[in-house]
Amino acid sequence: MKMKVTLLPGDGIGPEVTREAVRILNVMARLHGHDFEFQTRLIGGAAIREHGVPLPQDTVDTCLRSDAVLMGAVGAPEFDSLPPVKKPETGLLGLRQALQGFANLRPASCYPALVSSSPLRPEVVSGADIMTVRELLGGLYFGQPRGFAQEGEPAAWNTMKYFESEIARVAHVAFKIASRRRRKVTSVDKANVLEASQLWRKVVTKIAAEYPDVTLEHLYVDSCAMRLVTKPTSFDVILTENLFGDILSDEAAVITGSLGTLASATIGGIVDLYEPVHGSAPDIAGQGIANPIGAIASTAMLLRHTAGLEQDASEIESAIASVLAAGHRTKDIAAAGQSTVSTEEMGELIADALTKIAGKSTAARK
Ligand code: IPM
Ligand code: MN
Repeated sequence: MKMKVTLLPGDGIGPEVTREAVRILNVMARLHGHDFEFQTRLIGGAAIREHGVPLPQDTVDTCLRSDAVLMGAVGAPEFDSLPPVKKPETGLLGLRQALQGFANLRPASCYPALVSSSPLRPEVVSGADIMTVRELLGGLYFGQPRGFAQEGEPAAWNTMKYFESEIARVAHVAFKIASRRRRKVTSVDKANVLEASQLWRKVVTKIAAEYPDVTLEHLYVDSCAMRLVTKPTSFDVILTENLFGDILSDEAAVITGSLGTLASATIGGIVDLYEPVHGSAPDIAGQGIANPIGAIASTAMLLRHTAGLEQDASEIESAIASVLAAGHRTKDIAAAGQSTVSTEEMGELIADALTKIAGKSTAARK
Protein backbone atom coordinates (compact mmCIF):
# COMPACT_ATOMS: atom_id res chain seq x y z
CA MET A 1 0.00 0.00 0.00
CA LYS A 2 1.33 3.41 -1.05
CA MET A 3 0.22 6.55 0.73
CA LYS A 4 1.12 10.24 0.93
CA VAL A 5 0.84 11.51 4.50
CA THR A 6 1.20 15.17 5.42
CA LEU A 7 2.58 15.67 8.92
CA LEU A 8 1.53 18.77 10.86
CA PRO A 9 3.43 18.52 14.17
CA GLY A 10 2.21 21.97 15.27
CA ASP A 11 2.85 23.35 18.76
CA GLY A 12 3.90 22.31 22.24
CA ILE A 13 4.20 18.55 22.57
CA GLY A 14 2.87 18.09 19.01
CA PRO A 15 6.30 17.55 17.40
CA GLU A 16 7.46 15.09 20.11
CA VAL A 17 4.41 12.85 19.86
CA THR A 18 4.21 13.05 16.05
CA ARG A 19 7.81 11.78 15.82
CA GLU A 20 6.76 8.61 17.67
CA ALA A 21 3.68 8.18 15.46
CA VAL A 22 5.97 8.31 12.41
CA ARG A 23 8.25 5.73 14.01
CA ILE A 24 5.26 3.37 14.21
CA LEU A 25 4.20 3.97 10.59
CA ASN A 26 7.79 3.24 9.53
CA VAL A 27 7.69 -0.05 11.45
CA MET A 28 4.44 -0.94 9.65
CA ALA A 29 6.05 -0.02 6.33
CA ARG A 30 9.02 -2.29 7.02
CA LEU A 31 6.91 -5.22 8.24
CA HIS A 32 4.09 -5.14 5.73
CA GLY A 33 5.78 -3.54 2.74
CA HIS A 34 3.77 -0.30 2.84
CA ASP A 35 5.21 2.83 1.32
CA PHE A 36 4.53 6.06 3.23
CA GLU A 37 5.68 9.30 1.67
CA PHE A 38 5.84 11.96 4.42
CA GLN A 39 5.82 15.71 4.01
CA THR A 40 5.97 18.07 6.97
CA ARG A 41 4.24 21.47 7.06
CA LEU A 42 3.55 24.23 9.59
CA ILE A 43 0.30 24.96 11.42
CA GLY A 44 -0.78 26.89 14.51
CA GLY A 45 1.66 28.95 16.56
CA ALA A 46 4.61 27.43 14.71
CA ALA A 47 3.19 28.83 11.45
CA ILE A 48 2.41 32.24 13.00
CA ARG A 49 6.04 32.58 14.12
CA GLU A 50 7.37 31.68 10.67
CA HIS A 51 4.76 33.16 8.29
CA GLY A 52 2.52 35.38 10.44
CA VAL A 53 -0.56 33.21 9.84
CA PRO A 54 -1.77 30.02 11.58
CA LEU A 55 -2.57 28.21 8.33
CA PRO A 56 -0.28 29.03 5.39
CA GLN A 57 -1.71 28.32 1.92
CA ASP A 58 1.17 25.94 1.24
CA THR A 59 0.06 23.83 4.22
CA VAL A 60 -3.50 23.62 2.88
CA ASP A 61 -2.29 22.79 -0.64
CA THR A 62 0.05 20.05 0.59
CA CYS A 63 -2.68 18.51 2.75
CA LEU A 64 -5.13 18.56 -0.16
CA ARG A 65 -2.60 16.71 -2.34
CA SER A 66 -2.10 13.94 0.23
CA ASP A 67 -4.06 10.81 1.17
CA ALA A 68 -4.20 11.61 4.87
CA VAL A 69 -3.06 14.26 7.33
CA LEU A 70 -1.51 13.47 10.71
CA MET A 71 -1.54 16.40 13.10
CA GLY A 72 0.15 16.83 16.49
CA ALA A 73 -1.48 19.70 18.38
CA VAL A 74 -2.04 23.44 18.07
CA GLY A 75 -2.09 26.17 20.69
CA ALA A 76 0.58 28.32 22.32
CA PRO A 77 0.11 30.63 25.32
CA GLU A 78 2.22 33.43 23.77
CA PHE A 79 -0.71 34.12 21.41
CA ASP A 80 -3.38 34.13 24.14
CA SER A 81 -4.03 37.85 23.83
CA LEU A 82 -4.76 37.72 20.09
CA PRO A 83 -8.42 37.89 19.03
CA PRO A 84 -9.93 34.39 18.42
CA VAL A 85 -9.69 34.63 14.62
CA LYS A 86 -5.89 35.15 14.75
CA LYS A 87 -5.01 32.49 17.32
CA PRO A 88 -3.16 29.22 16.51
CA GLU A 89 -6.46 27.32 16.99
CA THR A 90 -7.86 29.13 13.93
CA GLY A 91 -5.31 27.19 11.89
CA LEU A 92 -6.95 23.94 12.90
CA LEU A 93 -10.46 25.26 12.33
CA GLY A 94 -9.43 26.54 8.87
CA LEU A 95 -7.84 23.20 8.06
CA ARG A 96 -11.03 21.36 9.05
CA GLN A 97 -12.96 23.62 6.70
CA ALA A 98 -10.47 23.20 3.87
CA LEU A 99 -10.45 19.41 4.16
CA GLN A 100 -14.26 19.39 4.67
CA GLY A 101 -14.31 16.49 7.12
CA PHE A 102 -17.61 16.81 8.94
CA ALA A 103 -17.53 13.72 11.16
CA ASN A 104 -15.09 13.70 14.03
CA LEU A 105 -14.67 10.26 15.60
CA ARG A 106 -13.35 10.19 19.15
CA PRO A 107 -13.17 6.72 20.62
CA ALA A 108 -12.69 6.63 24.39
CA SER A 109 -12.28 3.23 25.90
CA CYS A 110 -10.49 2.25 29.01
CA TYR A 111 -7.34 0.16 28.51
CA PRO A 112 -7.72 -2.59 31.15
CA ALA A 113 -4.24 -1.69 32.45
CA LEU A 114 -5.34 1.92 33.04
CA VAL A 115 -8.60 1.30 34.91
CA SER A 116 -6.91 2.36 38.14
CA SER A 117 -5.79 5.74 36.67
CA SER A 118 -9.39 6.72 36.00
CA PRO A 119 -10.85 9.30 38.38
CA LEU A 120 -13.91 7.00 38.57
CA ARG A 121 -14.16 3.86 40.69
CA PRO A 122 -12.98 0.76 38.78
CA GLU A 123 -16.41 -0.88 38.99
CA VAL A 124 -18.02 2.19 37.39
CA VAL A 125 -15.56 2.68 34.53
CA SER A 126 -14.54 -0.90 33.78
CA GLY A 127 -15.70 -1.91 30.32
CA ALA A 128 -16.61 1.62 29.21
CA ASP A 129 -16.16 1.92 25.44
CA ILE A 130 -17.61 5.08 23.94
CA MET A 131 -17.36 6.44 20.42
CA THR A 132 -18.26 10.10 20.17
CA VAL A 133 -19.26 11.21 16.69
CA ARG A 134 -18.98 14.98 16.78
CA GLU A 135 -20.34 17.18 13.98
CA LEU A 136 -17.32 19.29 13.08
CA LEU A 137 -18.19 21.90 10.47
CA GLY A 138 -21.34 23.56 11.78
CA GLY A 139 -22.96 24.90 14.91
CA LEU A 140 -21.54 27.68 17.07
CA TYR A 141 -18.01 27.23 15.76
CA PHE A 142 -18.87 28.41 12.25
CA GLY A 143 -22.41 29.85 12.34
CA GLN A 144 -22.95 33.39 11.04
CA PRO A 145 -23.41 36.05 12.25
CA ARG A 146 -20.61 36.15 14.76
CA GLY A 147 -18.55 38.96 16.16
CA PHE A 148 -18.19 41.90 18.50
CA ALA A 149 -20.34 45.02 18.62
CA GLN A 150 -18.52 47.94 16.98
CA GLU A 151 -20.18 50.60 19.15
CA GLY A 152 -22.15 51.05 22.35
CA GLU A 153 -21.90 48.68 25.25
CA PRO A 154 -19.41 45.90 24.51
CA ALA A 155 -21.30 42.85 23.26
CA ALA A 156 -20.40 39.68 21.35
CA TRP A 157 -22.34 36.87 19.68
CA ASN A 158 -22.15 33.51 17.94
CA THR A 159 -24.83 31.57 16.13
CA MET A 160 -25.79 27.93 16.46
CA LYS A 161 -27.17 27.06 13.05
CA TYR A 162 -27.68 23.69 11.38
CA PHE A 163 -29.03 22.76 7.98
CA GLU A 164 -30.93 19.49 7.76
CA SER A 165 -28.33 18.10 5.35
CA GLU A 166 -25.50 18.80 7.81
CA ILE A 167 -27.30 16.85 10.53
CA ALA A 168 -28.28 14.00 8.22
CA ARG A 169 -24.78 13.31 6.87
CA VAL A 170 -23.15 13.07 10.29
CA ALA A 171 -26.07 11.00 11.62
CA HIS A 172 -25.48 8.44 8.85
CA VAL A 173 -21.83 8.14 9.92
CA ALA A 174 -22.88 7.54 13.55
CA PHE A 175 -25.50 4.91 12.67
CA LYS A 176 -23.09 3.07 10.34
CA ILE A 177 -20.42 2.97 13.05
CA ALA A 178 -22.95 1.85 15.67
CA SER A 179 -24.13 -0.99 13.44
CA ARG A 180 -20.55 -2.36 13.52
CA ARG A 181 -20.33 -1.90 17.33
CA ARG A 182 -22.98 -2.49 20.02
CA ARG A 183 -25.80 -0.98 17.92
CA LYS A 184 -26.85 1.94 20.07
CA VAL A 185 -26.80 5.66 19.26
CA THR A 186 -27.30 8.29 21.95
CA SER A 187 -28.11 11.57 20.22
CA VAL A 188 -27.29 14.49 22.49
CA ASP A 189 -28.95 17.90 22.21
CA LYS A 190 -30.65 20.66 24.18
CA ALA A 191 -34.04 20.35 22.50
CA ASN A 192 -35.86 21.65 25.59
CA VAL A 193 -34.36 25.09 24.87
CA LEU A 194 -32.75 25.39 21.42
CA GLU A 195 -34.44 25.40 17.99
CA ALA A 196 -31.21 24.10 16.44
CA SER A 197 -31.52 21.09 18.75
CA GLN A 198 -35.20 20.58 17.88
CA LEU A 199 -34.26 20.24 14.22
CA TRP A 200 -31.32 18.02 15.22
CA ARG A 201 -33.64 15.63 17.07
CA LYS A 202 -36.17 15.52 14.24
CA VAL A 203 -33.57 14.77 11.57
CA VAL A 204 -31.74 12.15 13.65
CA THR A 205 -35.05 10.40 14.37
CA LYS A 206 -35.82 10.33 10.64
CA ILE A 207 -32.39 8.89 9.72
CA ALA A 208 -32.69 6.26 12.48
CA ALA A 209 -35.58 4.64 10.59
CA GLU A 210 -33.04 3.56 7.94
CA TYR A 211 -31.10 1.60 10.57
CA PRO A 212 -33.67 -0.69 12.21
CA ASP A 213 -30.94 -2.74 13.95
CA VAL A 214 -29.63 0.28 15.81
CA THR A 215 -31.40 1.60 18.92
CA LEU A 216 -31.68 5.38 19.17
CA GLU A 217 -32.04 7.30 22.41
CA HIS A 218 -32.13 11.08 22.86
CA LEU A 219 -30.48 12.75 25.81
CA TYR A 220 -30.16 16.38 26.85
CA VAL A 221 -26.56 17.50 27.03
CA ASP A 222 -26.68 18.20 30.77
CA SER A 223 -27.99 14.71 31.58
CA CYS A 224 -25.43 13.24 29.24
CA ALA A 225 -22.61 15.02 31.12
CA MET A 226 -23.97 13.49 34.32
CA ARG A 227 -24.50 10.02 32.94
CA LEU A 228 -20.98 9.91 31.53
CA VAL A 229 -19.58 9.92 35.06
CA THR A 230 -22.30 7.86 36.74
CA LYS A 231 -22.87 5.14 34.12
CA PRO A 232 -20.30 5.38 31.32
CA THR A 233 -20.88 1.76 30.31
CA SER A 234 -24.43 2.64 29.20
CA PHE A 235 -23.05 4.39 26.06
CA ASP A 236 -22.02 2.99 22.72
CA VAL A 237 -22.05 5.79 20.11
CA ILE A 238 -22.72 9.39 21.15
CA LEU A 239 -23.86 11.57 18.24
CA THR A 240 -23.82 15.29 18.85
CA GLU A 241 -23.26 18.78 17.48
CA ASN A 242 -19.93 20.58 17.40
CA LEU A 243 -19.66 22.38 20.77
CA PHE A 244 -21.45 19.70 22.80
CA GLY A 245 -19.13 17.16 21.18
CA ASP A 246 -16.08 19.22 22.05
CA ILE A 247 -17.06 19.24 25.72
CA LEU A 248 -18.44 15.70 26.05
CA SER A 249 -15.54 14.08 24.21
CA ASP A 250 -13.07 15.59 26.71
CA GLU A 251 -15.22 14.30 29.54
CA ALA A 252 -15.45 10.83 27.97
CA ALA A 253 -11.69 10.91 27.41
CA VAL A 254 -10.71 11.82 30.93
CA ILE A 255 -12.81 9.14 32.59
CA THR A 256 -10.87 6.46 30.70
CA GLY A 257 -7.70 7.26 32.60
CA SER A 258 -5.82 9.58 30.33
CA LEU A 259 -6.47 12.08 27.64
CA GLY A 260 -2.93 11.30 26.48
CA THR A 261 -3.81 7.86 25.14
CA LEU A 262 -6.73 8.78 22.88
CA ALA A 263 -6.90 9.28 19.14
CA SER A 264 -9.32 10.94 16.77
CA ALA A 265 -10.23 10.88 13.11
CA THR A 266 -12.02 13.46 11.00
CA ILE A 267 -13.62 11.85 8.01
CA GLY A 268 -16.18 12.45 5.30
CA GLY A 269 -14.38 15.26 3.49
CA ILE A 270 -11.73 15.51 0.77
CA VAL A 271 -8.80 14.26 2.87
CA ASP A 272 -9.06 12.57 6.28
CA LEU A 273 -7.37 14.18 9.27
CA TYR A 274 -5.98 12.30 12.27
CA GLU A 275 -4.88 13.78 15.57
CA PRO A 276 -4.54 12.84 19.22
CA VAL A 277 -7.39 14.15 21.37
CA HIS A 278 -5.03 15.98 23.74
CA GLY A 279 -3.86 19.55 23.22
CA SER A 280 -0.41 21.11 22.91
CA ALA A 281 0.30 20.92 26.68
CA PRO A 282 2.78 23.83 26.64
CA ASP A 283 3.59 23.27 30.34
CA ILE A 284 5.39 19.99 29.55
CA ALA A 285 6.57 20.68 25.98
CA GLY A 286 10.19 19.92 25.14
CA GLN A 287 10.81 17.81 28.24
CA GLY A 288 10.42 14.44 26.51
CA ILE A 289 7.74 13.32 28.97
CA ALA A 290 4.58 13.66 26.86
CA ASN A 291 2.52 10.56 26.19
CA PRO A 292 2.82 9.55 22.50
CA ILE A 293 0.05 6.93 22.72
CA GLY A 294 -2.72 9.26 21.49
CA ALA A 295 -0.64 10.10 18.41
CA ILE A 296 0.30 6.46 17.86
CA ALA A 297 -3.31 5.34 18.24
CA SER A 298 -4.17 7.98 15.59
CA THR A 299 -1.99 6.08 13.11
CA ALA A 300 -4.11 2.98 13.82
CA MET A 301 -7.23 5.00 12.98
CA LEU A 302 -5.52 6.24 9.81
CA LEU A 303 -4.78 2.70 8.66
CA ARG A 304 -8.34 1.62 9.52
CA HIS A 305 -10.37 4.48 8.06
CA THR A 306 -8.27 5.81 5.18
CA ALA A 307 -6.32 2.73 4.11
CA GLY A 308 -8.97 0.14 5.02
CA LEU A 309 -6.29 -1.95 6.78
CA GLU A 310 -8.28 -3.23 9.75
CA GLN A 311 -5.76 -5.88 10.73
CA ASP A 312 -2.82 -3.46 10.67
CA ALA A 313 -4.83 -1.06 12.82
CA SER A 314 -5.56 -3.75 15.39
CA GLU A 315 -1.89 -4.74 15.47
CA ILE A 316 -0.95 -1.22 16.54
CA GLU A 317 -3.74 -1.19 19.14
CA SER A 318 -2.61 -4.57 20.50
CA ALA A 319 0.99 -3.34 20.69
CA ILE A 320 -0.14 -0.33 22.77
CA ALA A 321 -2.26 -2.53 25.05
CA SER A 322 0.59 -4.98 25.59
CA VAL A 323 3.08 -2.26 26.53
CA LEU A 324 0.59 -0.82 29.02
CA ALA A 325 -0.19 -4.30 30.38
CA ALA A 326 3.55 -4.80 30.92
CA GLY A 327 3.42 -1.81 33.26
CA HIS A 328 5.21 0.85 31.19
CA ARG A 329 3.92 4.35 31.86
CA THR A 330 4.62 7.89 30.79
CA LYS A 331 4.33 10.42 33.59
CA ASP A 332 0.70 11.40 32.91
CA ILE A 333 -0.59 7.85 33.46
CA ALA A 334 1.81 6.68 36.16
CA ALA A 335 0.60 6.01 39.68
CA ALA A 336 2.37 7.83 42.52
CA GLY A 337 5.83 6.33 42.97
CA GLN A 338 5.63 4.24 39.77
CA SER A 339 8.67 4.50 37.48
CA THR A 340 8.14 6.24 34.16
CA VAL A 341 9.45 6.14 30.60
CA SER A 342 10.10 9.06 28.26
CA THR A 343 8.12 9.90 25.12
CA GLU A 344 10.80 8.30 22.98
CA GLU A 345 11.12 5.19 25.17
CA MET A 346 7.36 4.67 25.01
CA GLY A 347 7.55 4.95 21.20
CA GLU A 348 10.39 2.40 21.10
CA LEU A 349 8.56 -0.01 23.42
CA ILE A 350 5.47 0.09 21.23
CA ALA A 351 7.60 -0.30 18.08
CA ASP A 352 9.26 -3.40 19.59
CA ALA A 353 5.92 -4.89 20.66
CA LEU A 354 4.56 -4.19 17.18
CA THR A 355 7.54 -5.88 15.53
CA LYS A 356 6.71 -9.01 17.53
CA ILE A 357 2.94 -8.89 16.98
CA ALA A 358 2.98 -7.81 13.34
CA GLY A 359 5.99 -10.01 12.58
CA LYS A 360 3.95 -13.05 13.60
CA SER A 361 0.99 -11.93 11.52
CA THR A 362 3.22 -11.32 8.46
CA ALA A 363 4.45 -14.87 8.76
CA ALA A 364 0.85 -16.07 9.08
CA ARG A 365 -0.30 -13.99 6.08
CA LYS A 366 2.27 -15.67 3.80
C1 IPM B 1 -10.56 19.95 19.88
C2 IPM B 1 -10.00 21.28 20.28
C3 IPM B 1 -10.34 22.29 19.21
C4 IPM B 1 -11.84 22.39 19.14
C5 IPM B 1 -9.70 23.67 19.37
C6 IPM B 1 -8.20 23.57 19.52
C7 IPM B 1 -10.07 24.58 18.25
O1 IPM B 1 -10.45 21.65 21.54
O2 IPM B 1 -10.15 19.42 18.83
O3 IPM B 1 -11.43 19.44 20.58
O4 IPM B 1 -12.46 23.09 19.95
O5 IPM B 1 -12.44 21.75 18.28
MN1 MN C 1 -11.68 20.13 22.51
